[in-house]
Amino acid sequence: SAVVDQAADLVIELSSTPKTKLDEPAFGNVFTDHMLTIEWSASDGWQAPLIKPFGNLSLHPACSSLHYGIQLFEGLKAFRGDDNQLRLFRPMLNMNRMSNSAKRACLPAFDQSELLECIRRLVEIDQDWVPHSESASLYIRPTFLGTERSLGVKKPANALLYVILCRVGSYFNSETKGLSLWADPKYTRAWKGGTGNYKMGGNYGCSLLAQYEAEDHGCQQVLWLYGEDHQITEAGTMNIFLHWITEDGEEELATPPLDGIILPGVTRQSILELTRKWGEFKVTERYLTMSQLCSALKQLRVKEVFGSGTACMICPIGHIVYQGEVRDLAKRLGRSWPSTVQR
Ligand code: COI
Repeated sequence: SAVVDQAADLVIELSSTPKTKLDEPAFGNVFTDHMLTIEWSASDGWQAPLIKPFGNLSLHPACSSLHYGIQLFEGLKAFRGDDNQLRLFRPMLNMNRMSNSAKRACLPAFDQSELLECIRRLVEIDQDWVPHSESASLYIRPTFLGTERSLGVKKPANALLYVILCRVGSYFNSETKGLSLWADPKYTRAWKGGTGNYKMGGNYGCSLLAQYEAEDHGCQQVLWLYGEDHQITEAGTMNIFLHWITEDGEEELATPPLDGIILPGVTRQSILELTRKWGEFKVTERYLTMSQLCSALKQLRVKEVFGSGTACMICPIGHIVYQGEVRDLAKRLGRSWPSTVQR
C-alpha cells in the first residue's frame, strides 16, 4: 500500500539525548534532534513513515544516487511569529516542485499533502529548535534518493525520502554592501532540455568550480549567463531581479521567465505575486541581457538588483565583474528597498 499516502501510519521514536540548541555559525551546520525517513520499493510501495533520532544513513555502496545522481532535494522554512505560532512558508509549493523533480529523476510519485503532514509532525516534535528571532528560522530539507543496489543505469527499484531540519540565520555573512557577482559565459548552469528547472543536487555540485573561480576574481557568487547574447539567468543559488527604469522610461521589476533553465523559486513567485498586487510598477518575466543591464547602469537607470531564494531570502547585489570591468551598482542606485529585507 502507498503509505506516504497515510501520515496516520507515522511511527515516532523520540531521541533520548536531545542536543543543546546552539545558534549556528554558518548556514547548514546545526541539525535538530529528529529526522523523518520513508522508504519505497517497487515491489511493496511506500512503507510507514518514521520519525527517529537524527543520525547517519546506511546505504549500499552501489546505490544509484551515489553513482548516477538519481536524487533531488527541497528547501523550505518554518518561522516563529510574534504570536509564538510556527508557520511554514507556502509549503505546498515545495511539495509540488518536489513532485515535479521526482518525475524528472524517475523517482516514484508520493502524496504531497501526506508528506507535508509528516513534515508538520516532525517540525512539531522539534519545535523548540525554531528560533525566537526575526532573522533566523528552521530550514527544512526534504531529500529523495534512489537507493537501488545496482550499477545498472535505470529507474531505481528502491528509494528513500527523508527530511532533516537545520537551524539557520543569514545565508551570506557579509551583507551590508551587497553581494559581488562574477559574470562570465565560460560556465553554463543550465540548458534547454536539461534539469536546471528542477531541484536536483547535480545542478549545485556542478556549479562549485565556477563558484571558486568567482572567488579568484574577488567575487562571492557567479552570475550565470546563457547564450550568445549573455542572458542573465540566476545569481549563485538564487533567482535574480532587476528593478530599473526601462529604455522607454517605465519603472519595472523584471526577472527571467521560467523557460526551462530557471529554477522556479518559491521566493521568486512570492515576490512576483506581491509586487503585482502592489501595482506600483510594471512587473515582468522576460529575457534580460548583460548589454541591457550595462547600458542601464551607464544611464543610471538601475534602482536595484537582487537575488532571491529560500536560504538567502532577498539579497541585494553590490557589484558585478563582467568583461574585466567592475560594474558597481551600489554607487548608482537610488535604493528603493532596505538593504536586507527579512521576510
Ligand atoms: C535554497 O535557497 O533553499 C537553496 O536551495 C539554495 C542552496 C542552499 C542550495
